[in-house]
Amino acid sequence: METFGCQMNEHDSEKVAGVLLARGYKQVETPDAAKVILYNTCSIREKAAQKVFSRLGELRPGERTGECRVPSGGKNPGEDRRFSAEAAGQERRGYRDTSASGNDSCAASDAQPGMAVRDGRPASEGPYKEINQRKLVNAGGGKIIGVLGCVAQQEGEEIFERAPWVSLVCGSASYRKLPQLIAELEAGNRRVTGLDTKTDETFETEITRRDNPFRAYLTIIEGCDKACSYCVVPFTRGPERSRSSASILDEVRQLAEMGYSEVQLLGQTVNSYADPGARKMRFSELLVAVAEVPRIRRVRFTTSHPRDFGKDIVDAIEAYPAICDHVHLPVQSGSTAVLRAMARTYSREEYLQKIALMKAAKRAISITTDIIVGFPGETEKDFQETLRLMDEVQYDSAFCFKYSPRPNTPSLTMEDALPEEEKSRRLAILLERQREIQRAKNEKLVGQVLEVLVDGKSKKAGQWSGHTTSNKVVNFSSQAENILGDYVQVKVISATPNSLIGEMAAAHSDW
Ligand code: 5AD
Ligand code: SF4
Repeated sequence: METFGCQMNEHDSEKVAGVLLARGYKQVETPDAAKVILYNTCSIREKAAQKVFSRLGELRPGERTGECRVPSGGKNPGEDRRFSAEAAGQERRGYRDTSASGNDSCAASDAQPGMAVRDGRPASEGPYKEINQRKLVNAGGGKIIGVLGCVAQQEGEEIFERAPWVSLVCGSASYRKLPQLIAELEAGNRRVTGLDTKTDETFETEITRRDNPFRAYLTIIEGCDKACSYCVVPFTRGPERSRSSASILDEVRQLAEMGYSEVQLLGQTVNSYADPGARKMRFSELLVAVAEVPRIRRVRFTTSHPRDFGKDIVDAIEAYPAICDHVHLPVQSGSTAVLRAMARTYSREEYLQKIALMKAAKRAISITTDIIVGFPGETEKDFQETLRLMDEVQYDSAFCFKYSPRPNTPSLTMEDALPEEEKSRRLAILLERQREIQRAKNEKLVGQVLEVLVDGKSKKAGQWSGHTTSNKVVNFSSQAENILGDYVQVKVISATPNSLIGEMAAAHSDW
């Protein structure tokens, strides 16, 4: 299984893996050895969507052998993560346009050191039943090849036309049907689809095969009702559906018992959470309830929509140190005219009021964002307003993207499209400005002692990495033996725009 795109996709894949494990499948180390190959896809920008078709091309059945050609592994470091345990410690923020050379997006934040640790539950564990080869014979030259996620939803059965060796096409809103779809494939069905988005169900599984041993992801709200004019998500992920707070809290308690001390609540618009259960918890109340679960030490959440971001969330962060002091609040543009064209439902001033709430908090809150440049009709003046907004907010990190026209979206037919070169020029300016902001912000942290959850170990002896509560990456030295998973105090000795460099001050294991 290879996953593209956002953290929600990463976590969906963990749940899909859980569904497969429950059916007796086991993970293998190479695509050659696999009987089932799944791509969980992203269509947020064109480049990401194209990627899956090039992957599928690599799996075209060979003419003479009837075998699948399988990809030999990415040339780019970011791509090697496909089948490796490296994925475990990587940052999932933002939507990776999976071409590492992708030039239509860039995060002025960190490409983090990977780590060679798996989740302590070897892939071969669990009830393994020998898969009946005969049943698996289908269009994929002896392999079941499936396309999941947003491209599946968007392209639907077209995928069978373009790649007849694919036998499963399933969008994220239909994942609950996966066991049934896989059973149909095992029974010899050649093509099965799950493409319905008219659902009020969420994807909950008995087993989730979590890849990250330190940070447990939990989707609390699926889909999106916001209808930003450039965005495919409302089409590909369907309407907003929230999980009940009781079910979320049960899972958090289980995670705490399994040893997770950090959880990250996920949703395209996580703070639009609407508890369907009897308790009717507000999002900020849910944050507090999760923070109060014994042994949970860090609660993260992403992505927040400015419209539903209120003082109650800031109050919760202030009052509960376990709620991480980091808010990802995409602005998309600093110009009210562009925001209106984007149908973002807030003005520049309204967004800045939300920022002011955070800046007024007693506890410093790290703020990150997403920005799109080159939206149709964006003038030089609009662009300058975005730059001014960045100067004003002083983001800790920003994921910046060139506008990419997407199928079905209202902005597809808008006039005044900008030339690619102009979008690239604006993106480069934005990134440079953000880099300088981050450099200055990080330099101010030199000399401070910060608590770090250690989640990576370098090949170089005595070198480790981890995250602060504000989600900053810290690379640091320590002669301690095994501190993976520990919370340690690190003194910052220098800084780059993307990370902090430090040395361990003291272990902190008696918490
Ligand atoms: N073009 C460029 N960027 C986009 N995003 C969403 N849709 C598009 C698009 N059509 C960006 C937004 C969003 C992030 C996840 O991806 O900034 O917040
Ligand atoms: Fe897309 Fe807007 Fe929904 Fe975010 S809030 S997923 S940008 S439609």
